[in-house]
Amino acid sequence: MAGFTVAIDGPAASGKGTLARHIAESYGFHHLDTGLTYRAVARALLDAGVPLDDERQAAAIASQLDFGGLDRATLSAHGIGEAASRVAVMPQVRAALVKAQQRFAARPPGTVLDGRDIGTVVCPQAPVKLFVTATPEVRARRRYDEISAAGNGLSYDAVLADLKKRDARDSARTDSPLRPAEDAHLLDTSEMDIEAAFRAAKRLIDAAY
Ligand code: C5P
Repeated sequence: MAGFTVAIDGPAASGKGTLARHIAESYGFHHLDTGLTYRAVARALLDAGVPLDDERQAAAIASQLDFGGLDRATLSAHGIGEAASRVAVMPQVRAALVKAQQRFAARPPGTVLDGRDIGTVVCPQAPVKLFVTATPEVRARRRYDEISAAGNGLSYDAVLADLKKRDARDSARTDSPLRPAEDAHLLDTSEMDIEAAFRAAKRLIDAAY
C-alpha cells in the first residue's frame, strides 16, 4: 500500500525545505528535496563539461541518478541553483526525475516531498498539499544570511536579482511551471518562524492522517 504523502511547493528560500524536514522528522516520514535531484543533474553536466541544454545527455544522467547519494553540502553552492533551473525546463529531464520521485513518494509509512511541481505533477493525489511563499525581499535576506555565513562575498542585491530571475524562469516554463495546485493550502512565511509554520502544517496533516 502506498504511504501518506505531504506535498510541499514554493519558490527558492520560501522556507519549504526547513518545513519539510521538520514534518518528516516529527512524523517519521522519508523526505526528498526534489530540488537536489535537478541540482545533481546540473552538477554532473557541469563536471563533465557538457552544455546545460544538452537534453539527451541530461535525461540520460537523470534516469540513472542515485537518490540515495544526493549530498546537500556539495549541491547547495550558489551557482548550482541557477544551472538547475536551466536543466529543469527540459521535458525529458523532468520525465525521468518525476518517475523516480513518484517511486520515492510511495515509500511507507509516509513521505514529504518538496519542490515546484509536487502538488501539481509528481503527487497530484497527495492528501496534504502546501504552497509556501514569502516576499522576494524576505527570501533574499534569508538566502543572503546563509551565503554570508558560509563566507561567500555576494551582495544582497545580487542574491535578490538571482532569486527573481529563477522565480521568473520556474514560473514561465511550459512544462510543470511553479504554481499552487488548486487544492493547496497557502502558507506565507514572510512573518512566520519555523515553529509557527510547522504548527500550521501540523493542523492540516493531523486532520488528514
Ligand atoms: O529548490 P531548489 O532551489 O534547490 O531547486 C533548484 C531548481 O530546480 C529550481 O529553481 C527549479 O528550477 C528546479 N526544480 C524544479 N522542480 C522541482 C524542484 C526543483 O523544476 N520539483
